[in-house]
Amino acid sequence: EKGGYEHFMLKEIYEQPRAIQDTYRGRLLRDEAIIKMAGVEDNMKKFLNADRIIIVACGTSWHAGLVAEYIFEEFSRIPVEVEYASEFRYRNPIITEKDIVIAISQSGETADTLAAVKLAKEKGAFVFGVCNVVGSSIARETHAGAYTHAGPEIGVASTKAFTTQITVLSLMALRLARAKGTMSSSVFRMYLQELELIPQKVEQLLSVNEHVKEISKKYLLSTNCLYLGRGYNFPVALEGALKLKEISYIHAEGYPAAEMKHGPIALIDDRMPVIVIATSKGHYEKVVSNIQEIKSRKGKIIAIVTEGDTTVKEIADHVIEIPDSEEAFSPLLTTIPLQLLSYHIAVMRNCNVDQPRNLAKSVTVE
Ligand code: M6R
Repeated sequence: EKGGYEHFMLKEIYEQPRAIQDTYRGRLLRDEAIIKMAGVEDNMKKFLNADRIIIVACGTSWHAGLVAEYIFEEFSRIPVEVEYASEFRYRNPIITEKDIVIAISQSGETADTLAAVKLAKEKGAFVFGVCNVVGSSIARETHAGAYTHAGPEIGVASTKAFTTQITVLSLMALRLARAKGTMSSSVFRMYLQELELIPQKVEQLLSVNEHVKEISKKYLLSTNCLYLGRGYNFPVALEGALKLKEISYIHAEGYPAAEMKHGPIALIDDRMPVIVIATSKGHYEKVVSNIQEIKSRKGKIIAIVTEGDTTVKEIADHVIEIPDSEEAFSPLLTTIPLQLLSYHIAVMRNCNVDQPRNLAKSVTVE
């Protein structure tokens, strides 16, 4: 059932090219230059009249929501707020009929997210679900939705759910961008083409596995790790840190790279590995200067860079190359080596990768 892989997590990491493709299949029609999503199409008026979108989710799904915030605002110019479902449901939020609430949940059974959906409905919002499990509670409770077609995710650490959630949300943002006229048809076509290329780029990128395994050997005894990213890749830094802590029990924190100087820089010494996402299109020079600051404090740098990078290579202790892509879709690539890094470190520490201590696949309690 693990298809020859040692763990479900590794199998699911490797399934991502196929999962992403399954998610956009039948929806992304490049030749016709359209995106077809019934849940969006049937409710287009509501989407076009929405004052804002509020995304509610937990854990990794919340990180996908953060990536979507950047994509929706950039592509479709709709204000987006992203909130932990657990906070949203308990703070008497201001919600009106002109709000759209998007609930993101792999399992569709997360108690806090389900409660947030019910609350938003009571307050009159239109509620849209992005779930993986067909027929799950959140899928049933929402007014409309779009499934990620990732297939079953068994490993407690979410991997393919994250990349397919970003895929679905990107499709929605693109569709709305065209409907609202916030994106020209040529740019829209370019993005369709770019999104279609992602599965093969992920496939190609998976060949870094052995290299990441080698790097992992050097850091398996670390007690702390810092993850930094900017823009679209700031949520990926959070996700990388979550992945490491939940399966390897190493304390890790994700930060927007520019926040480093406001506190976390004090943590850096020669025992602190810092994983930095430094792809060529996302505020590259700024991130390079962050890397220099880390280096001068003797931090160990593992950098995720775009193929062909030379500047970071000279400073960093290790580099992991990813294929070039449009910046907005780069989280679909940068997240892969971070999944592999946490996987290998956890395996080398003899941790139960698929069923880490104290965690359940779906959190159906408050
Ligand atoms: O099923 P959901 O997407 O609603 O689950 C949300 C979180 O419980 C989940 O993402 C959790 O954080 C994962 N273990 C992260 O890998």
